[in-house]
Amino acid sequence: MQLSFAPMEGITSCLFRRTHAACFPGADRYFAPFLAPDGSGRCRDGAWRDLRPENNPNGLPVPQILCNRAEPFLTVARELAAMGYTEVNLNAGCPSSTVVPKHKGAGMLLDLSSLDDFLADVFSRCPLRVSVKTRLGLESSEEFPAILEIYRRYPLAELIVHARDRAGMYRSRPDIGAFAAAFPSCPFPVCYNGSVVDRKSFHAVTDAVPELDRVMLGRGAAADPALFRELRGGEALEKDELRVFLARYEAVLLASGIGEHYTLGRLKELWFYIGALFPADARGLKRLRKAQDLAEYRSAAERLFVGQGFQRGAHFVG
Ligand SMILES: Cc1cc2nc3c(=O)[nH]c(=O)nc-3n(C[C@H](O)[C@H](O)[C@H](O)COP(=O)(O)O)c2cc1C
Repeated sequence: MQLSFAPMEGITSCLFRRTHAACFPGADRYFAPFLAPDGSGRCRDGAWRDLRPENNPNGLPVPQILCNRAEPFLTVARELAAMGYTEVNLNAGCPSSTVVPKHKGAGMLLDLSSLDDFLADVFSRCPLRVSVKTRLGLESSEEFPAILEIYRRYPLAELIVHARDRAGMYRSRPDIGAFAAAFPSCPFPVCYNGSVVDRKSFHAVTDAVPELDRVMLGRGAAADPALFRELRGGEALEKDELRVFLARYEAVLLASGIGEHYTLGRLKELWFYIGALFPADARGLKRLRKAQDLAEYRSAAERLFVGQGFQRGAHFVG
């Protein structure tokens, strides 16, 4: 089973990926958060920095592009090829209300004829292998057969299916049935994504699709960095491992030069998920959320770790 760490804007930066790989070497692949080129194919400097090979010493992640026009997509893909990348992923799943009305992300599923034109252009000229990360539809997973019909026209390197419709954002129950029904008609490798947060949710998917050999983990792995190991039959996360991981991540963030303020922000974003492992210490988590600087954060985190709130085997509820 190939297990991938999902792209998560604000969480899975190169600094996080590097720390996670060093402390919990169980993910086969990491996907980088999306690049969002403008009409000329220009992206934020920080987004490029995240992908530079020297910032990814454990191996290159799979880069992702959020874009609905072939020209800027191809400009970015050519740049990625020059940096040594061999594959690029198209984001056809982002549900944000700032993205979808522009027909980007999951908004690409609004007009299947435009999606078809875009893919035809990209597949005829892209120097990289192209994979797609998609939702099942906008309003309903009943849209998926028609969407899949478009994808089937192209030699996708892989189709990653976040098994929700856009309306479900990150909350609705994944439609494993719709995923399982579509799986046999996919002529390319298929990866399942959506609320795999523990062994039970993992087996719910692998039981429904016994031939499945690729699963992508997002929030569950952000909450529990040992989830990859656990799904491979290894031990559940220990409190001390988490403590070491977080201290190391903090040190890596500070050493990168982003400063205390952004370091605190990154750590708090991660704790939004990690908090699920401390179900019995709501007050401690609130103290951490309210920390104004790194000193307050460290003291709040330490109190959480010495307290009784950590529950081994607890997982994010996705
Ligand atoms: C904070 C956050 C940031 C995300 N950023 C991206 C992104 O950059 N690209 C993308 O394709 N999906 C992104 N996603 C979606 C995840 O990759 C994943 O598809 C989704 O969380 C469902 O998987 P999960 O239930 O395992 O978390 C993001 C999700 C969250 C919660």
